[in-house]
Amino acid sequence: MKSAIFPGSFDPVTNGHLDVIKRASRLFDKLIVSVAINESKHSMFTMDERQFLLKESCSNAGVNNVEVVCFDGLLVDALKAFKATAVVRGLRALSDFEFEFQMALMNRELDEACETIFLMPSPEYSFTSSRMIKEIAKFNGNISAFVPPVVIKALMEKITHKQ
Ligand code: PNS
Repeated sequence: MKSAIFPGSFDPVTNGHLDVIKRASRLFDKLIVSVAINESKHSMFTMDERQFLLKESCSNAGVNNVEVVCFDGLLVDALKAFKATAVVRGLRALSDFEFEFQMALMNRELDEACETIFLMPSPEYSFTSSRMIKEIAKFNGNISAFVPPVVIKALMEKITHKQ
């Protein structure tokens, strides 16, 4: 049984992430979607909230061979702990490439068994990012094309509670 790990901040999950999840879930027997504590980013959603939104979004999209977990530490250690064969990352545009290339090579330097597979989401998601979606939502813009309904609800609740 071949498993892959799809790590990310998922703050929150977008339709672009879901597109990559669907593609990867067709390539592997099991996909472990790993929500990372990213020290360098100030998250809007807690780990539990991000995990809940991912679980709901995957189940609403009918993706069943996905497990949503949290991880704190090195990705190469998570890869071993979850017995995954590869890391999956989405590549939206050339601008993602430099960081992703550097991260893939660094991970392989840390563990030579760590292979990264890049999947391109559908072009309609090539400009979607969690950061932009949070900003649009804050100013009451329409985000319905970019995130699942459960995320729209969660974003609205967050923003209303902050005001
Ligand atoms: O969604 P993001 O924020 O682009 O995801 C980045 C993430 C979480 C995949 C990356 O920061 C990561 O793997 N963090 C775990 C710590 C680690 O292993 N760092 C060394 C990799 S260069």
